[in-house]
Amino acid sequence: MNKSSVYDCSVIELNCFSSDRRGNMSVVENGKTLPFDVKRVYYLYDVPGGVERGGHAHRSLYQLIIAVSGSFSVTLDDGHLKRTVLLNRPYKGLLIVPGLWRTIEDFSSGAVCMVLASAEYDEDDYIRHYGSFLNLKN
Ligand code: TYD
Repeated sequence: MNKSSVYDCSVIELNCFSSDRRGNMSVVENGKTLPFDVKRVYYLYDVPGGVERGGHAHRSLYQLIIAVSGSFSVTLDDGHLKRTVLLNRPYKGLLIVPGLWRTIEDFSSGAVCMVLASAEYDEDDYIRHYGSFLNLKN
């Protein structure tokens, strides 16, 4: 995890089945869409304006973050560089590799942040102190 950089993350465009009259649909499938298999899905919603979520790094977890409704910004930090990505389309997902500090902010009203994760919840995978994160990266 100490080698990963903010440039190892990318915005993935999901397939979008469109229909003028019936709306749109995007699909994520294990083995096709992502470089990991999805073991867990969770989502943030009703986040008040001005609140920041995240504020941690993961040792080995891969994630795809999608703004399934509304918008928010994800700031990635590899200990050297920071990169902020605005997510505001339900057919775009930000792939986050392990070893990056991330914060999620600027939630719009009604925003829903869906996270597809490569493993089940494990508190031991979290690095929750920025100083410890910098020590691990450098
Ligand atoms: P946390 O990951 O700290 O939230 P944030 O997105 O703001 O960083 O999780 C908040 C709480 O929810 C924490 O007590 C752990 C718990 N939690 C689970 O029990 N399972 C999960 O899959 C997740 C993501 C969190």
